[in-house]
Amino acid sequence: SKKPVRVAVTGAAGQIGYALLFRITSGEMLGKDQPVILQLLEIPDEKAQKALKGVMMELEDCAFPLLAGMEAHGDANTAFKDTDYALLVGARPRGPGMERKDLLAANAQIFTAQGKALNAVASRNVRVLVVGNPANTNAYIAMKSAPDLSRKNFTAMLRLDHNRALSQIAAKTGKPVSSIEKLAVWGNHSPTMYADYRFATIEGQPVKPLINDEEWNKNVFLPTVGKRGAAIIEARGLSSAASAANAAIDHMRDWALGTKGKWVTMGVPSNGEYGIPKDVMFGYPVTTENGEYKIVEGLEIDAFSQERINLTLKELQEEQDGVKHLL
Ligand code: NAI
Repeated sequence: SKKPVRVAVTGAAGQIGYALLFRITSGEMLGKDQPVILQLLEIPDEKAQKALKGVMMELEDCAFPLLAGMEAHGDANTAFKDTDYALLVGARPRGPGMERKDLLAANAQIFTAQGKALNAVASRNVRVLVVGNPANTNAYIAMKSAPDLSRKNFTAMLRLDHNRALSQIAAKTGKPVSSIEKLAVWGNHSPTMYADYRFATIEGQPVKPLINDEEWNKNVFLPTVGKRGAAIIEARGLSSAASAANAAIDHMRDWALGTKGKWVTMGVPSNGEYGIPKDVMFGYPVTTENGEYKIVEGLEIDAFSQERINLTLKELQEEQDGVKHLL
């Protein structure tokens, strides 16, 4: 049987954590034959640590055959020791009256410390997914704080936007989600993201002429996907957690196990692809193989798409400029 791998999860007692840990441990992320050791991080606060203990009791009570070990931590420097996969979910939420720059600064502090901890103690091949918002900028900060690790190992979660877009296209066309290929989501995990179905196909047929409705694209599809998080808060009274956890599972599974040529969306540091400045943590269509992602290159960018890409890039650069002095 396989040697266990170490999976660190931060914010492990939060609502995404609760929807995520059981699925990781049942084998949905890394395979039904891959034992895992969970290294769970929460803030040192007594209440959070107690809640984390409760989640761990439930994980025990599932008697998962793949659970090879489990630890609770209050410090990233121990939580990330030798970790092979790190899912950075915990972040500072926006409090009442908190300004955007204060939110960025609070998260910059968290992700600088966590990037340094990964740099110091994680496996040299650790694969990092940042879920906590602002996800792209937090991933950028962690990457910049970990100079000894490959920048390719830091990613941000755009997969929820990708999955939301897939299901909207499936509903519009009346086709199963699983039949849709070659969807791309560009940019920031925020309402400025650009979900782009110009290259998408269903059973080999191009989606764009099938939908043939530019008004729907601009005035229904893009706003629906972009504002979906807010719509869920409005309906549920709580932010999306199960669908976010599901997207994190999809992202890590595809990264680790490969997409067999299928496109998925990941937030990854640019090397200049599509004119995005180097290091900007940008949503791109990618394929993955042997544990490595590859950005899909050579796609044509029309005027409307360029406009949307510029808009989401501008927002990301403003976020990154806002934390520059803290790095
Ligand atoms: P939550 O508030 O239920 O849980 C967050 C947990 O993180 C809390 O238990 C908190 O104690 C912990 N935490 C805070 N700072 C920490 C730190 N420095 N180290 C370790 N743990 C820490 O929030 P929820 O719903 O689980 O969401 C988590 C994050 O995910 C939020 O930032 C949210 O905005 C983001 N999110 C991102 C999505 C994406 O698509 N990228 C989608 C949905 C949510």
